[in-house]
Amino acid sequence: PLTSPKELLADAYRNRYAVAAFAAHNMEMMRAVVEAAEEAGAPVILQTTPATLRYAGLESIVAMARAAAEGAKVPVALHLDHGDTFETVVRCLRAGYTSVMVDASRLPFLENAAFVAKVTEAAHAAGVPVEAELGTIGGAEEGGAGEEELTDPEAAEEFVRRTGIDFLAPAFGTVHGVYKGEIRLDFSRLEAISRRVGLPLVMHGASGVPGEMIRRAIARGVSKVNFSTELKRAFVRQLRNYLSNHPEETDPRRILLPAREAVKQIAKRKIEIVSGVVP
Ligand code: 13P
Ligand code: ZN
Ligand code: NA
Repeated sequence: PLTSPKELLADAYRNRYAVAAFAAHNMEMMRAVVEAAEEAGAPVILQTTPATLRYAGLESIVAMARAAAEGAKVPVALHLDHGDTFETVVRCLRAGYTSVMVDASRLPFLENAAFVAKVTEAAHAAGVPVEAELGTIGGAEEGGAGEEELTDPEAAEEFVRRTGIDFLAPAFGTVHGVYKGEIRLDFSRLEAISRRVGLPLVMHGASGVPGEMIRRAIARGVSKVNFSTELKRAFVRQLRNYLSNHPEETDPRRILLPAREAVKQIAKRKIEIVSGVVP
């Protein structure tokens, strides 16, 4: 069965490592990520945005994730990433998601907190932990605007108190997608947030961030690290490559296998970074 991230992140938080969470858009990426976790011998979180649910269908995603978890030698969780509406969260809770993120970070503080509190009540009633974002993480996140506003540590403490969330996603300089120019992460802010909230923190926008910086964030309370862009790019790059080298190939399985393998290699490398195997 699927595993709850509550225990996974509690252990990671205590022992100062992190669990990697990967965007899985289709069966190939999902299988690739679970195989990578098995090879690395570490737990993993599969995550889907509302856009992925629209693309693949909620029931198909849950069935595939359950099937992958069933046969896996490591714990596998299924998470809603950047959940936007109460309805989407409730659908995921009913369908068997093991954690949900609610992203109301575009709302003013009090409205964000009130909405997140409402979602958290529903999720906790179903025994499911909640991740929420305070401040705004920059970049082109799906459906997002992309204006950056770093999280205030004092506000973070009040946000956690008002909402009862389990994991906090702070904005400390990471951006979704690729980094333009130098990456500047505010580690002292991250440390202050961690001290105030005392909860596992979630690092968004980890594609493009060097392993050394990811490790520094983990040392300051980050227990879940989100990757999407690097996986997507690896998938599409291999797909293009294979198709241009094999224009006559008509078997979708042969065409998709190298793309799937490329995703697996990237995911494995990221898992090794966050679990502390490699710097
Ligand atoms: P990247 O696309 O930069 O890896 O960000 C992933 C993410 O934060 C998903 O929530
Ligand atoms: Zn994100
Ligand atoms: Na990024």
